[in-house]
Amino acid sequence: MDFDPSSAETETVELALKGLSMPLVEAMESQRAIRRLQPDPVPDELLVRMIELAQKAPNGGNEQWFAFVVVKDPAARAALGRLNRLGYPGLKLYYRQRLRTDPKFARTWAAIEWQKDHFEEIPVLIVACANRRVPPWPRLMNAGVYASVYPATQNLLLAARALGLGAAFITLPLWSLRRARKALGLPGNVTPLAVVPVGWPRGRYGPTTRKPVGEVMHLDRWGNQPWAGVSS
Ligand SMILES: Cc1cc2nc3c(=O)[nH]c(=O)nc-3n(C[C@H](O)[C@H](O)[C@H](O)COP(=O)(O)O)c2cc1C
Repeated sequence: MDFDPSSAETETVELALKGLSMPLVEAMESQRAIRRLQPDPVPDELLVRMIELAQKAPNGGNEQWFAFVVVKDPAARAALGRLNRLGYPGLKLYYRQRLRTDPKFARTWAAIEWQKDHFEEIPVLIVACANRRVPPWPRLMNAGVYASVYPATQNLLLAARALGLGAAFITLPLWSLRRARKALGLPGNVTPLAVVPVGWPRGRYGPTTRKPVGEVMHLDRWGNQPWAGVSS
């Protein structure tokens, strides 16, 4: 497909593409879920580049079981927005205790709620799919299908970050596989595994909140944590 952008769009695209030379560490440290997005369109050239970079991720046997449905059609976006809204009360119930006790999470929740209420305004939803069913067993195969799509999805998020686009990894609209397939017109042998809403951000990037690194490191055996209390 040829791109035939206006001169203003060409400028936007060129500026965004320059962002891809951002230091990797800066992209990794500042990439975070940006749920509040502007309704303005995202040029196709940027979407294509993001997906091209997503494809570079490791995947089982290089079988490339990933596929990306770029959803711009208002009716399809609305259908996913409806699913997101339907799933929302269940997720809120799941997090009810944390919402009462964790003020930081309550702030995250405000963004989740914003996204629920403005879902239809988000200009593009990239649905990361496996181009096959997820087999219930053997475990290695089952995990292998997910693990062949999620690294690519992380690449997509990093590319969005470097391009100056807002994005997030969300699964709430996919709570019903049957309904998600129907909303997107997916055949039964295609499995949607994540939705990445993309747009120009309203909020700012990073930093992210994570545990001190020593808390998640173990040396040689579980529970031996010589790095506890250490951070870079
Ligand atoms: C498996 C998975 C499912 C997620 N589902 C949702 C979701 O449905 N809605 C949402 O707003 N965020 C979702 N997220 C994003 C996380 O909430 C987010 O990554 C986490 O709170 C850390 O925030 P940060 O990425 O901004 O640092 C999901 C992330 C993962 C990995």
